[in-house]
Amino acid sequence: MNLYSFMSVCYDLLDKIWFSDKGRNPRDVIEKLIPNRACTVLDMCCGTFSNGLPIAKKNPNNRVIGLDRSEDMLKEARRKVKSADLANVKLLCQDATYTGLESESFDYIIIGLVLHECNEMLWNRILREAHRLLKKDGKLIILEWDKQRAISRKIKFAPIYVLEVLGNPKYFTQMYYSDKSRFFESYRFQMLEQYECNYTVVMSLRKNGYN
Ligand SMILES: C[S@@+](CC[C@H](N)C(=O)[O-])C[C@H]1O[C@@H](n2cnc3c(N)ncnc32)[C@H](O)[C@@H]1O
Repeated sequence: MNLYSFMSVCYDLLDKIWFSDKGRNPRDVIEKLIPNRACTVLDMCCGTFSNGLPIAKKNPNNRVIGLDRSEDMLKEARRKVKSADLANVKLLCQDATYTGLESESFDYIIIGLVLHECNEMLWNRILREAHRLLKKDGKLIILEWDKQRAISRKIKFAPIYVLEVLGNPKYFTQMYYSDKSRFFESYRFQMLEQYECNYTVVMSLRKNGYN
């Protein structure tokens, strides 16, 4: 039993409390980055499918795969997919460091709110797997917590900051304060765009060396 066994039923409160403020909701930004054409989307470490679900609803032409190692988080994801009656979704219980999926088979890969929970070894393994799975002209979309400037936002973000620091003291701050372009460059991804959102940043990247 891990943290997400307890959190799966209340995880979506995160979106209601932090992402629905006036400002950009990161889930909406991610959804808009993916067009409704015949393409494959992998929501890697999908949790309750907060990124994949709105995409699958908006884009019936997409094939959306959600992958997570927590059966409890996937149970919530399955409930949401069933109630939306979606035929273009597949949910897999797998480890993101070794998915067993075919190389270069995805047009878009989303990794949302995961990397700040990892250590150096996991950054390496998850991003190496994402690099392997992404098509040459594919896009990697990352959602991560962002540094807050306004005092009111610092205060509202404080509980998350404290919990994340306590949960992963060394690597959370390393990820949080990192220069994201340089960080992803060292894992063979090039930054294309960054979108400032509520408490978070959404980044669009491509594999290095491909146009
Ligand atoms: C904070 S949640 C993020 C969920 C979702 N991506 C989002 O944007 O809200 C982190 C998720 O990553 C999953 N996870 C962490 N490491 C993983 C790994 N190595 N393989 C698969 N899933 C993993 C956890 O089970 C959890 O569901």
